[in-house]
Amino acid sequence: MDWGFANRLSRTIRPDGRCFYLAVDHGYFQGPTHRLENPGKTTEPLMKYVDAVFMPRGSVRATLNPQMDIPLILRVSGGNSMVGEDLANEEVSVSIREMIRLNAAAVGISVYVGSKYEHQTIMALAKLVDDCTDYGIPVMAVTAVGREEDKKSARYLALASRVCAEQGAAVVKTYYCDDFDKVVAGCPVPVVIAGGPRTENDLEVIQFVYDGLQQGAIGVNLGRNIWQNECPEGMARALQMVIHENASPKEAFEVFESMKAAMPKAG
Ligand code: 5RP
Repeated sequence: MDWGFANRLSRTIRPDGRCFYLAVDHGYFQGPTHRLENPGKTTEPLMKYVDAVFMPRGSVRATLNPQMDIPLILRVSGGNSMVGEDLANEEVSVSIREMIRLNAAAVGISVYVGSKYEHQTIMALAKLVDDCTDYGIPVMAVTAVGREEDKKSARYLALASRVCAEQGAAVVKTYYCDDFDKVVAGCPVPVVIAGGPRTENDLEVIQFVYDGLQQGAIGVNLGRNIWQNECPEGMARALQMVIHENASPKEAFEVFESMKAAMPKAG
């Protein structure tokens, strides 16, 4: 592994081998998602808990303080939207020069295995890995499912994760599911857990992150389940405890509850 690549990777995976990425990339296809109207404002209070921020270049330039002391994982795929024909119709939308100009510690791309755009998105990943390898930039592949929530099975996610790893992804982001250990076992590179829509129950988030880590994931890349929570800082702190401090879900949930109770009351 080249020094630059190793150095960038070590900035996004902590010395304990774990990572906590905050996903704030939703605007690239969802527009101004609830609580992400200003991604910089949403991200700022959470910075102290996370290891890297996953964001597209528009939000980075417009809303992030360049003096921030936290690595950027740049979202570099796009070309689709919630109101368009097909969410899977993505390509690489950022040049390698721009990735370097923005000082990306890593880049992220969605791959839609089993969709109409499977070939296009897998080849986009392969080409991105080639280009990024020339400049020592690790690539995180996201096994995206678009609106096809039924794809979140171990059988599908293991296949999609392995396909991404074989094209050279340094890290694969995929969903937690039943038999998640099989997904991790079949993926020769580190796996981080994706979030998905906000869950009904706060303990559920902490629990699936804990379970995923027990089954071999190295960390998370979560968005809505943190910043759409009533107490985003409490959830971020709880997840940090589970990821980096070997806290049990119960211990982390207690901290979440106490931070939530200490929040100033609205109105
Ligand atoms: C979907 C993505 C998202 O853009 C985002 O990162 C998801 O975050 P969350 O689902 O936790 O809100 O990668 O494939």
